[in-house]
Order: sequence, then C-alpha cells, then structure tokens
Amino acid sequence: MNTRMLVDLEVPVIGMGSANTFNVEAEEGLDVRRRIIDSCITSGSTFIDTSPMYERAEKALGMSMEGKADQFQFATKVWAVGKETGRRQIARSFELLKTDHVHVFQIHNMVDWRTHLPYLEELREGGKIDLIGISYTFPPGFPEMMEIMKTRRIHTIQISYNILEREAEEEMLPLAEELGIGVIVMRPLASGALAKDVAHQPDLTPLAEFGITTWPQALLAWVLADPRVSILIPSSTRPERILQNAVAGTLPTLPNELREYISKEAQRCLNS
Ligand SMILES: NC(=O)c1ccc[n+]([C@@H]2O[C@H](COP(=O)([O-])OP(=O)(O)OC[C@H]3O[C@@H](n4cnc5c(N)ncnc54)[C@H](OP(=O)(O)O)[C@@H]3O)[C@@H](O)[C@H]2O)c1
Repeated sequence: MNTRMLVDLEVPVIGMGSANTFNVEAEEGLDVRRRIIDSCITSGSTFIDTSPMYERAEKALGMSMEGKADQFQFATKVWAVGKETGRRQIARSFELLKTDHVHVFQIHNMVDWRTHLPYLEELREGGKIDLIGISYTFPPGFPEMMEIMKTRRIHTIQISYNILEREAEEEMLPLAEELGIGVIVMRPLASGALAKDVAHQPDLTPLAEFGITTWPQALLAWVLADPRVSILIPSSTRPERILQNAVAGTLPTLPNELREYISKEAQRCLNS
C-alpha cells in the first residue's frame, strides 16, 4: 500500500470508512466485521474513520479489532452540542474503540465547533490525539469550512470528492494545499452509486496495463491522482471488496490521459 503524509502523520492512501458498514449489533455482524478488519490488515488499509453519529459503529469496531487495534490508525469525531456533552462523547469514543490514542479527532459536520476546538487542542497538547479535523459532506458547508481552515487551528478536512462531485476542486483543495491542511476524502464511490449504478459496462482495456482490473479501482485511482488528496476512506460490507479496492492504493499515480479516459467512461456508463 502506498502512503502519503496527512500533515505529519504517514497514512495509507486507502483507509476505510465505517458509517453504514459497522453500524451493526455485535451478535448480528461481528463475524463478517472481523473478516473486514483482517482484509484491512492484509491490504494495508489500516486507517479507520468512524463517528458516534454512526450509532453502533465505534462499539462494533472496538469489538472486531480486539487484539489488533495497535495495527490501526483511528479517526473519529465529536458530534454533540455543548461542552459537557462533547467531553462525555469524546471520552466514550476512546472507551468504545478501546484505545488511549486517536490519530485524528474531527468535529463532525462542524457541529458546535467553537465549543469543542479548545478541548481537542488540550487533548493534543496532552498527546492523546495527533491531529484535529473538521468534516462536512456537501458544498453548502464549504464556506464555513474555509473560515475554520483560515484560523489555522485545524489540521485536516474531510470532504466528498469523486468523479461526479468535483466542487472541492474550485476552492477547498487549493486552500487546503495553500495552508498545508490534510485532505481525507469521504464517499469516493459516492456512497456506492458510482460503483453500482452503471448503465453500461465500462471498458477497462486501456487501464489493464496500469494494473486496474475493476471499475471501483478506476474510480479510486481517479481520486488519488489528485496530489492534494491525502487519503480515501471507501467502505464495504464485503471483505473481498476491501481487498480489491485496496489495489488502487498500490499503483503509481494515474497519468493524466488515463484520468481523462476514466472521466469519459464515467460519463458514458453511469446512470445520471
Ligand atoms: N459528514 C461526515 O463526516 C461523513 C459523511 C459521509 C461519510 N463519511 C465517512 O466516509 C466513509 C465513506 O463513505 P461511504 O461509505 O458513504 O462511501 P463510499 O465508500 O463512496 O461507498 C460505500 C459503498 O460502496 C459500495 N462499494 C464499495 N466497494 C465496492 C465495490 N468494489 N464494488 C461495488 N460496490 C462497492 C459499498 O457497498 P457494499 O457494502 O455492497 O460493498 C458501500 O455501499 C463513511 O463510511 C464515513 O466513515 C463521513
């Protein structure tokens, strides 16, 4: 697995999200989740993003990573209003993930960020967390995100960026580059729509020589071709897809002409 610097933290270029895929009761889904964790270890996708907003995800992660947590980097979030509620939620995340260190602590959707930021800064000074971030999914949140970025008090942003959702290219990615802010890309497959909602089969022939054998790999390589991106966090309920998707993170950077080719295939093949 290739790595990039997320500010001063070396991370695999493909990690894993957990929003829907780990929101399960332990009894229901732990076996497959343990296999997903093993696929992450095998493929080197050992950076995991989660949040208390994903209900049972932090707990399911903590349980399915039992004995293996030290092989992973964690990114979680605070999603709460008010100082005390936020602090309790942050403490609970450490407990559920069964860790005393979180690599990236983000403020989910920037909710009550002015309240949480000083406490996250305190945790960072105490060595409990490495980086502080903010997340927001859609472009209407970008102006506020940029205001927060300009305070220089956060180190990472988490945003949507994929072949059909390219608004981040206008101002967000240039500003992140200018300020040295790390970029975590959520929804690189548009929550699955880009991989599944295909009207015509994309022609992968010109990509085969480059090592791309599946359409989702092409979509992930397309995002990674932007050097301003630090890491992608795709997700899947299927352990074998974690392995297949991770191949995109082992390839050299896609040349421009292949990136253009993938864009054209997306326009030709995807349902609009
Ligand atoms: N505001 C926020 O902070 C925020 C918002 C949204 C997301 N996030 C984070 O970003 C992560 C990623 O977002 P996401 O999970 O929505 O997006 P995603 O990775 O773009 O899409 C995941 C979906 O793609 C499908 N998929 C994955 N690999 C595939 C393959 N090889 N072939 C076919 N289908 C495939 C999965 O279905 P199967 O399970 O069937 O494989 C899953 O439904 C989340 O888990 C979360 O951690 C953060």
